[in-house]
Amino acid sequence: MKYYITTPIYYINDKPHIGHAYATIVADTFARYHRLIGDDVFFLTGTDENSQKNVEAARRCGARDIQKYLDTQSAVWKQTWRDLDITFTDFIRTTEERHIKGVLDFFNRVHAKGDIYKGTYKGFYCKGCEAFVREADLINGMCQFHKKTPQVIEEENYFFRCSKYKNQLLAHINDHPEFVQPASRRNEIINYIRDHFEDVSISREKGEWGIPLPIDSTHAVYVWFDALINYLTGIGFGWDEKLFARYWPADAHIVGKDIIKFHCALWPAMLISAELPLPKRIFAHGFFTIDSERIGKSMGNAIDPLALAHTWGIDVLRYFLLREIPFGGDGDFSVARLESRYASDLAKRIGNFVSRVLALAEKISYISQKNFGAYEREASTVVLAVHEKWAKGFEEYALHDSLDSVWDLARFGDQFIDKTKPWALMKEDQSAAMQIIGILVELVRQSSILVYPFMPHTAEKMWKQLSLDSNNIIGNGIKSADWRHTTVSQIVKGPHLFPLKSET
Ligand code: MSP
Repeated sequence: MKYYITTPIYYINDKPHIGHAYATIVADTFARYHRLIGDDVFFLTGTDENSQKNVEAARRCGARDIQKYLDTQSAVWKQTWRDLDITFTDFIRTTEERHIKGVLDFFNRVHAKGDIYKGTYKGFYCKGCEAFVREADLINGMCQFHKKTPQVIEEENYFFRCSKYKNQLLAHINDHPEFVQPASRRNEIINYIRDHFEDVSISREKGEWGIPLPIDSTHAVYVWFDALINYLTGIGFGWDEKLFARYWPADAHIVGKDIIKFHCALWPAMLISAELPLPKRIFAHGFFTIDSERIGKSMGNAIDPLALAHTWGIDVLRYFLLREIPFGGDGDFSVARLESRYASDLAKRIGNFVSRVLALAEKISYISQKNFGAYEREASTVVLAVHEKWAKGFEEYALHDSLDSVWDLARFGDQFIDKTKPWALMKEDQSAAMQIIGILVELVRQSSILVYPFMPHTAEKMWKQLSLDSNNIIGNGIKSADWRHTTVSQIVKGPHLFPLKSET
């Protein structure tokens, strides 16, 4: 099956912080899961470059050539994702020709449909959101996300007649419970569309930047109208129709909760107008905060994901981000929490489990077992339940359940060792002890596969210790995770996966 997943495209007026890394790592985890089970995956990310705030940042840096500034900044973001081993298929920039062409095609479709008209916009505009905001949404006169007073503007603009699609949109959301997730966000969107969804201004008077409107070059395409179309132009819309037909509609747009109105109201209305199918799912995740304050450039407390990955390793960073906030909820970031999760969940749980089993196996010069003995049924039943939880979590976007299932397995494994005491049994009944170790090695093999989407480097290390080839696993995941699907015939124990800092 094909699977197309996207991150938002990022503004590049600064470098990536932990909140951006979170969104990208989440999408990467889904992409890796789908590749593991053999799907044909397209994972798109990129940069949103026609925003006024990028232009202002360029000026602040004294950059005379804005495009050059954007090239440099975009390269920083791309490199950050590469350094974090994000497996994106393509990286779209909204100043690329292929994107601009797609935006113009798209605009012309909507225009031809009679959905564009000229009008006057008067109201508030938040530069941080790049959005018109309603007075009712301000808190103490300030934008609730950027904590700044919005501009008051009055402009003659082109409007998109999206209110026309209000009922169709509400019906779609009602008929497709998975379209907006989690459920709490669905209610928020339904209320918004029902009570406040009005025609949107989709052009701004053209300054020095932005895509000129095909029908009036004194106007630029409104940056959100332009940016949302990246989900189409990134997979060929307007430049490779075959590729586009292969992947559209998207299976999932992963977005932060601050941008769901654009994704769950404006975007589908644009697609309906352009007569294109709607994405299958828009999942809104929560925010990372520091001391309960939103992280962000404007908040001045950004944390560098690369520095964390450098200190702790990419997998530890991934684990912490994915574990610390329930998918869809909010979470507070602190290095103390990271340290404590490292010790309790990684070093003492999964790391110790793998280390205990492989030490035992190595000590007795483990050879593969034909017969797993009396405990096999118990272990294989647990594994089956773990698989179900793992796969269901991915399919239903309950990522924390999938992650937790891997720890269920390690917890069971630890208890199983304590119960069966193979090292003691060795002295009384060597063949029974061998069978138990056979089960334990199989549990380690199972964990290595299930942990892969979350912690790919850890999985690779485990495969190495089990003498397994990743090429026989990735693309074959669900099958390879069948109980005893692959025989482990050689163990090469490596160092502890997550040594405690005091032990290094
Ligand atoms: N450019 C727009 C998106 C256009 S998509 C067609 C944008 N860019 S952004 O750089 O401001 O934000 C990108 C994503 O990062 C958003 O989904 C936003 O929610 C997410 N995050 C920004 N700060 C965050 C946290 N502190 N925590 C989690 N995610 C956050 O919006």
